[in-house]
Amino acid sequence: MIKRRHKVLLVGDGAVGSSFAYSLLQTTQEVDELVIVDLNKDKADGDAMDLQDITPLEAPTIIRSGEYADAADADVAVITAGVPRKPGETRLDLVNKNAKILSTIVQPIVDSGFHGIFVVSSNPVDILTTLTQRMSGFPKNRVIGTGTSLDSARLNVILAEKLNVPVSEIDAHIMGEHGDTSFAAFDEATVNGQPLKEVANFTATNYAGIEEMVKERGGKIIARKGATFYGVAKCLAYIVKAILENRNVTLPISAPLNGEYGVSDLYLGVPAVINTSGIVKVIEHDLSEEESKKMAHSAAKMKEVLDGVEL
Ligand code: LAC
Repeated sequence: MIKRRHKVLLVGDGAVGSSFAYSLLQTTQEVDELVIVDLNKDKADGDAMDLQDITPLEAPTIIRSGEYADAADADVAVITAGVPRKPGETRLDLVNKNAKILSTIVQPIVDSGFHGIFVVSSNPVDILTTLTQRMSGFPKNRVIGTGTSLDSARLNVILAEKLNVPVSEIDAHIMGEHGDTSFAAFDEATVNGQPLKEVANFTATNYAGIEEMVKERGGKIIARKGATFYGVAKCLAYIVKAILENRNVTLPISAPLNGEYGVSDLYLGVPAVINTSGIVKVIEHDLSEEESKKMAHSAAKMKEVLDGVEL
């Protein structure tokens, strides 16, 4: 049997996009062709050449710059395009600018005949993922946002440091908005398979503090180096790996909710199973009353922002 070729289209070759491209080539061997689209064609060309030079030591991938029309036979279209946060800005401050940019990207990709899976990381990611689905008219399971994957990684890092255990032993998720209304699902978190709440000797103040550290981490990175990109780039690469390798893994992503957690018509950060078909299942944790309230608050905030989007 001839192995099916896999093609990935990347739209947006800024710090996140180029870091994703670099990370993707080292996260999976399943990419046969990577096409980079950016308004700055020279940057896309230069990055394609630079990245091509690592392929003798990784997978034999073809990497080139291209156009939206290249989406026609792509398996995945990754969208990182948009203005990033400046120091002091929230993700929601970016919404109208990035929604406008998104509207110039999604239609030409759809017009190309693209029938793969959209993966979105541009901020505010839950809003832009919801808009990508609406603009494209794609089945909801074939549009995915990076959601709270990065926040969850940050939570795991912080918990591992606090508990002085390897990060691989922590399984904890941030849920809701990738932003200020997110919350940590501490009741469902485990350390080496044991409930976190049984293992850790934390007070309510400790838990609140850890949640706050997670929320502030992106802003702290931006204050120090002007942007964040490696973390979200790896999350993107991992989602694309799950799709191309049909892995059926559960990841905390922005997934379409249809009544799960009491939320509908919105993408929001929840654990969901991903494979070659896209999102195959939203995992519904039995949230505590407190956690359910936080989820409802996050969803209400996202709906308010969505209603106010000016295209
Ligand atoms: C962050 C950006 C990606 O949290 O939103 O680092």
